[in-house]
Amino acid sequence: MKVILSESEISAGIAQLARRISDDYRGRPLTVVGVLTGSLIFLSDLIRRLDLPLKVGLIQASSYRGRATSPGKLAVADLSGLDLAGRDVLLLDDIYDTGQTLKEITALLHSQKPACLRSAVLLWKEGRQRVELTPDYHCFRIPDVFVVGYGLDYNDEYRHLPHVAALEDNERPDCRAGFAV
Ligand code: IMP
Ligand code: MG
Repeated sequence: MKVILSESEISAGIAQLARRISDDYRGRPLTVVGVLTGSLIFLSDLIRRLDLPLKVGLIQASSYRGRATSPGKLAVADLSGLDLAGRDVLLLDDIYDTGQTLKEITALLHSQKPACLRSAVLLWKEGRQRVELTPDYHCFRIPDVFVVGYGLDYNDEYRHLPHVAALEDNERPDCRAGFAV
């Protein structure tokens, strides 16, 4: 696997993003909502660097695609456990690809009437966007390759890698398999 972002590059990128978010919110209370499973590691590394009064919420989403290149149907588990009314909310996901996930989850969270809703992703995959909505914050732009590691999976594997790597075609024999968010 070809490493695209090393552990130390990711760490530096997240530290920089955390400083930016802490500056932007300037001590205002924030609720960070992570999209499981992909944002798990990004979330845990980012929140420990945020210098803000903080609450954390989690939502489970899954997307099953006929092919990796076409957007799949998104299933989002019950959001009733989140208490976002009147709060500043930052939605966190692992990667901005077609943007469908961000668009759909943003719409769902808006229905809880947060005071302000922004989004942050670790990776922004270039040339794949199918929606107008873009994340407010991102750490890294990457080319249009399928990546794994640091939370991102292929068939639920590789999430534990400390770096982000491109998965070659021969390491990904069945590109028709659905993949989990
Ligand atoms: P979108 O809805 O097309 O923006 O896709 C977002 C979701 O698809 C992400 O949260 C990931 O779970 C998954 N995804 C998109 N690209 C990749 C990739 O290169 N590797 C692993 N998962 C990906
Ligand atoms: Mg994800």
